[in-house]
Amino acid sequence: MKKLGVLTGGGDAPGLNAVIRAVVKTAISRYGCEVFGIRNGYDGFLEEDGIVPLGIEDVRGILPRGGTILGAANRGNPYARKIIRDGKEVTVDVSDEIVKGIDRLKLDALLVLGGDGTLHIAHELFEKGVPVIGVPKTIDNDIGGTEITFGFDTALNIATEALDRLHTTAESHHRAMVLELMGRDAGFIALQAGISGGADVILIPEIPFKFESIMAKIRERADKGRKFSILAVSEGAKSQDGVQVFSRKGDEIYVPRLGGIGQAVGEYIERQGFESRVTVLGHLQRGGTPTAFDRSLATRYGAAAVRLAARGGFDRMVALHCSTITDIPLVDATAIPKRVKLDDDAVVTARSVGISFGDE
Ligand code: F6P
Repeated sequence: MKKLGVLTGGGDAPGLNAVIRAVVKTAISRYGCEVFGIRNGYDGFLEEDGIVPLGIEDVRGILPRGGTILGAANRGNPYARKIIRDGKEVTVDVSDEIVKGIDRLKLDALLVLGGDGTLHIAHELFEKGVPVIGVPKTIDNDIGGTEITFGFDTALNIATEALDRLHTTAESHHRAMVLELMGRDAGFIALQAGISGGADVILIPEIPFKFESIMAKIRERADKGRKFSILAVSEGAKSQDGVQVFSRKGDEIYVPRLGGIGQAVGEYIERQGFESRVTVLGHLQRGGTPTAFDRSLATRYGAAAVRLAARGGFDRMVALHCSTITDIPLVDATAIPKRVKLDDDAVVTARSVGISFGDE
């Protein structure tokens, strides 16, 4: 193994820089490899100055830094790239150009740090002969075959702190405070933060809710003298007779953007005569320094990905299983997205301690 490439695709997540650092350090010091960083996801193979050599000096001090020193692109799908042709915007497949770019560099392995979309593309590139290895990144924690993705723990901690802070206003003003959290179609952030932050109601995409049940919980608390309530609402949550709420519809490049369910819930509560306020935590969940857990996990993933490359374990992804790093086929990671199971211990526990999912 002489040359490794590393790229970060999709949205940023805390821990990306920690993975890059671990990859560079392991590849250079343990295997004597050259490492190349690909800028802005797969786009780097198509851009002038899109590929940069990475040495130990380049990754010094980046362990605690959020974002990615390589840049990310969440519309960098080489199979559907928007270009202007004859004055018109058209979508083209540039995957063969990406493959040529990789061949020109003579990479022995391309390490792809990404979520489901980026990893799915990695698998397709493998089928065109590219020696890819995946590293599971996303705050949503929705990648199959691994217990946890890096980035999730940081988002969870930020969401929990937000719930703690909302508690004080909720209590002082006797209000229902709604916190809308990210996660797309997976409710892991809202579920875990809701438990950790002492929410009274948790709404997640996997458990469609009834508006009346939310109000029943708020009233039950008020009747017992607890005149405030905290609601952790996943952006993908939907009512039993409704649909998910989007702030922007999608097209062939952009996925639809979820957003607005928190506001809908808050407005409903107010219409029932109970004062409510809504906070959308948004990208604060993805920004800033990773937690110690994410730094450590990201470092373990990065070093393991290089070891996997040295063994020729292509078309596979490093994963966490029973607290140990292992690796699984990339298709297993992307074929079935991970979702909160209804009999998940966390769901059962939340119900045991009196948290409502708005479904009963
Ligand atoms: O997948 C990570 C994530 O942060 C989701 O939780 C969220 O729905 C989405 O990305 C937001 O994407 P963008 O940064 O493109 O608005």
